[in-house]
Amino acid sequence: MSFKLLAQDIIWRNGRLATMDPDLKTAYGLLENYDMVTRGKTIVAILPQGILDNDVCEIVDLAGRLVTPGLIDCHTHLVFGGNRAPEWEQRMKGISYETISQQGGGINSTVRATRSLSEDNLYRISQPRLEALIREGVTTIEMKSGYGLDLQNEEKQLNVAKRLAEAYPITVSSTLLSAHTVPPEYQGKSDEYIDLICEQIMPQLWQKGLFESVDVFCESVGFSLEQSKKLFLAAQQLGIPVKGHVEQLSNLGGSELVASFKGLSVDHIEYLDLQGIRALKESGTVAVLLPGAFYFLRETKLPPIELLRENQVPMAISTDFNPGTSPFASLRMVMNMAAVLFRLTPEEVWSGVTCHAARALGREETHGQLKTGYQADFIVWNVSEPVEIIYEQGSHPLHLRVYQGKVTHDHSSFF
Ligand code: NIG
Ligand code: FE
Repeated sequence: MSFKLLAQDIIWRNGRLATMDPDLKTAYGLLENYDMVTRGKTIVAILPQGILDNDVCEIVDLAGRLVTPGLIDCHTHLVFGGNRAPEWEQRMKGISYETISQQGGGINSTVRATRSLSEDNLYRISQPRLEALIREGVTTIEMKSGYGLDLQNEEKQLNVAKRLAEAYPITVSSTLLSAHTVPPEYQGKSDEYIDLICEQIMPQLWQKGLFESVDVFCESVGFSLEQSKKLFLAAQQLGIPVKGHVEQLSNLGGSELVASFKGLSVDHIEYLDLQGIRALKESGTVAVLLPGAFYFLRETKLPPIELLRENQVPMAISTDFNPGTSPFASLRMVMNMAAVLFRLTPEEVWSGVTCHAARALGREETHGQLKTGYQADFIVWNVSEPVEIIYEQGSHPLHLRVYQGKVTHDHSSFF
């Protein structure tokens, strides 16, 4: 065999590799009796066991355990101040999310809490949320702004995301969601607020390299289709990819708008229709399903899963971790919800948190699969079948967490 091992390489042997590589026609892209070789941060070879002639590098014996790509949580609002438990208590008494938003609660109450915190305090309260996701196997995460809603506070939120990325073994993809809601000082002047984003917040924070895509809440309680389009046009001029919170509470046609900009993803999409689905298929935009928000809002309208499936639109799944509609720092629990509530097959669920989630972040060439040339982010689980990770909750099946080729969590001594 022509592959030449180097002393710095690691051979991961005797794993059941759920590669999630769509080119392999097996379920989960499963490969058995293969060696996976990492060199530094990268997977450099996946070869049938028995051909590597090794007398130079370390071998790690995985003893038949399941190996998957690291989990990717492609839609979160993880950096926020306060919590909305009191508001939730009201909701449990029958007051709707829309009514609470209209009364100045909802997103704007988190805006007040986020603005009132120093950057250091915002960082500190975000840490345990991120740590929870890391511990359960997340290796790439998206984080949105959208609770600052002015230049200084949006920058503060994005700086926190940047500091988290520097401090923890995880890839962070940041998104500008200044168009989340109209802040109090712009009440009744939403067009002017969109101008502020287009002319100041977006260009200045883009220049500082603080985010990699732009998002909007296109909804009756958010921004109109026209306002969303204006934002996307300004983003396009700067070369920034777009995505949208669309069709969550009604169908405004936001998905078609995102698709017309060749956007990365449309997220929520309970009210998406066939016309929107055709547009997504055409543009290659990922449908991001957020079962945590569906569950927590006691939504009854399911996203059009069967139509998405028929039209082969890639479906990703994410926590949407936020204090108002999905206070869940667990992607594994949301994987379970995607199967039970949305009836995704276990294989679709796994694609949804690996290869398709990577695509939703524009990282499908480097993340979300066990494949030569990809970043060596993977989880060794104390199970043998992929479905077990979705099925059982509350247990801690993570055996090894490997990020960029290095073991960051080793629970092998527990078993
Ligand atoms: O993804 N839909 C809008 N944004 C969030 C909710 C944010 C909030 O309520 O604070 C979501 O569900
Ligand atoms: Fe969201």
